[in-house]
Amino acid sequence: MSSQEEVVNSNNEQHNFDQQPGNDAELLSPLTRVLHIIIALGMIGLVGVGIYMTDFEVYALYDLHKAFGSILLVFILARVYWRICEGWPSPLAGTPAWQQQIAKLVHWVLLIATVLFPISGLMMSIGGGHGLSIFGWELVAENMDAAGNTVALNESAAGLGKNIHGILRDVILIALALHVGGALKHHIIDKDSTLKRMFTFKS
Ligand code: HEM
Ligand code: HEM
Repeated sequence: MSSQEEVVNSNNEQHNFDQQPGNDAELLSPLTRVLHIIIALGMIGLVGVGIYMTDFEVYALYDLHKAFGSILLVFILARVYWRICEGWPSPLAGTPAWQQQIAKLVHWVLLIATVLFPISGLMMSIGGGHGLSIFGWELVAENMDAAGNTVALNESAAGLGKNIHGILRDVILIALALHVGGALKHHIIDKDSTLKRMFTFKS
């Protein structure tokens, strides 16, 4: 039995990811790698722009943020579906149990945050009566009164969405620091293939 199989067999809840179709011992599956890079770049960009436009009141960026955030939701849902089909990547042989547990927890937090960010954003925008347009394509019209003022459709949904969005801002910054720090630690200190099996772009 290989050392990798021993790690997997030592934990019955763990999927043997590398034995699933599309995975080998060196690389995660192509769809996992492609969705990860699209969502990672999208999330980092949206968190950065979100914080910048909110803190410095740059309202011109709001529509762009909302449009990209809504489009990213499509990829995020595809990734959730893919995780349900495929299971989580199994840890590399030799990773201590406590590190596996932290990595698993952080992966869950990141996955849930990717879903809750756009949904809470939609609640905030549509509930607040601002509607939703993606690059001029109006999906939900703005809710205006006769005088042309924006009127909330559902104030409590909008308020809840705003609170969730605000809480997630801190949650994701902490989770990303652990996630990226952990990935770099694997690469630089442990010198294992954790980073390479996610960031190698060949089929
Ligand atoms: C520079 C940025 C990033 C680096 C270096 C990085 C690195 C990695 C690596 C190496 C793995 C595989 C872990 C393993 O094999 O056990 C992974 C998995 C994962 N990463 Fe990242 N990541 C980054 C950004 C992000 C971002 C922004 C998100 C989401 C907000 C994210 C969410 C996830 C999730 C949910 C997994 C679990 C596997 C999956 O669902 O694809 N990552 N990341
Ligand atoms: C998909 C991922 C998304 C991420 C990572 C993200 C991230 C963020 C962050 C970090 C902020 C700053 C929050 C604060 O400082 O309180 C923000 C603000 C905001 N986001 Fe998003 N967002 C996403 C999607 C969306 C979507 C889909 C919408 C609406 C359709 C949206 C609407 C807004 C609005 C209106 C604000 C300003 C909130 C305020 O003025 O208090 N976001 N976003």
